[in-house]
Amino acid sequence: MRIASYDETDHDEVLAMNLQAFGWPITEAAVKRYLKHDERWMDIVGVYAIERGRTIGQVLPLKIRTRTSEGEETVGGIAGVTVVPGNARKGVATTLMEAAHDVLRDNGIRISFLLTTEYLVAYGMYRKLGYFDASSFSSAQKLVKVARKPKDTVLRPYRKKDWRRTDRIYRHGTRRLLGFVVRERAFLNKKIVTSPLTRENIMFVQDDKAEGYVVLAPGEDDVTVREIVCSNGRSFNRIMALVEAGAAEKYVLTYLQTSRLGRRRFERRGYKFNRTTWGRVMVAPLVRGLSNKKLSELYDFGGAFCMMALDTF
Ligand SMILES: CC(C)(COP(=O)(O)OP(=O)(O)OC[C@H]1O[C@@H](n2cnc3c(N)ncnc32)[C@H](O)[C@@H]1OP(=O)(O)O)[C@@H](O)C(=O)NCCC(=O)NCCS
Repeated sequence: MRIASYDETDHDEVLAMNLQAFGWPITEAAVKRYLKHDERWMDIVGVYAIERGRTIGQVLPLKIRTRTSEGEETVGGIAGVTVVPGNARKGVATTLMEAAHDVLRDNGIRISFLLTTEYLVAYGMYRKLGYFDASSFSSAQKLVKVARKPKDTVLRPYRKKDWRRTDRIYRHGTRRLLGFVVRERAFLNKKIVTSPLTRENIMFVQDDKAEGYVVLAPGEDDVTVREIVCSNGRSFNRIMALVEAGAAEKYVLTYLQTSRLGRRRFERRGYKFNRTTWGRVMVAPLVRGLSNKKLSELYDFGGAFCMMALDTF
């Protein structure tokens, strides 16, 4: 088995492997788009296992800026871990994970994060490789019965030129949080190019009563709040009151509220959080001398640690 990067693989085989594992259509054009618009992608794309000319496994290491209690730190993000069926349980993914860790270390990175689900066999592999649970993907819901619409505040679809204001609101709204809260300039515009997110999913408000935006995924019987960022608790309540006003007799759902602040604001509005969930954010040190305890101090997992849905990988 040989380790290679995306350039050396058969791109059709890579596409098929990712469609099968994640339903993710990773094509040459998509890779070009990620490299241009998503600063987390590394110049060397992926580590792949090639055996007898066939691509049989993949791990995609990303580099992601984070905030710790001691300042900014670029960490690794491990994405797209998969092997082609028929090649499982031969140590391929473990070898690729170790190769991805080497790539990260070669780039001066000393911490690696990943997202997974506790019921996947991958979870056991990650634990063996030294990862531990940093946070779960907490989710919450509320059935909206009576919905009163606040006066004087109106949400409107996001416009591309709003980016300076949303960037500023984001910086202000996350200033006390740690973790995945260091976003690139014009983040929402770039996300619109690289993901299924549309302008219409982002509702923006800025007036003398509220300032912020909410990313929604409306369903038939529910509305999912994928992200809400606002300047203060008052804005949060006004924006959520407007969201709920448009969801009478429906459930409003939210997930990935990893920070205590995010959870508390929803709880105060009557949202019920599920204590145990399957989704996990995991983390591992990549260098000697960096203990799990130190990682917990750097990120305050369960407290100020934040990862919102638009930052998942
Ligand atoms: C997860 C996955 C990448 C593992 O690939 P792999 O090459 O078979 O993994 P390895 O052979 O290196 O196994 C490493 C460890 O994973 C665990 N593991 C792997 N397959 C397992 C299985 N079928 N049952 C239980 N544990 C398993 C074991 O702890 C194993 O160590 P061991 O063989 O010493 O007991 C592969 O099963 C896969 O592609 N799954 C579908 C996609 C997916 O779920 N990706 C993870 C997204 S977060």
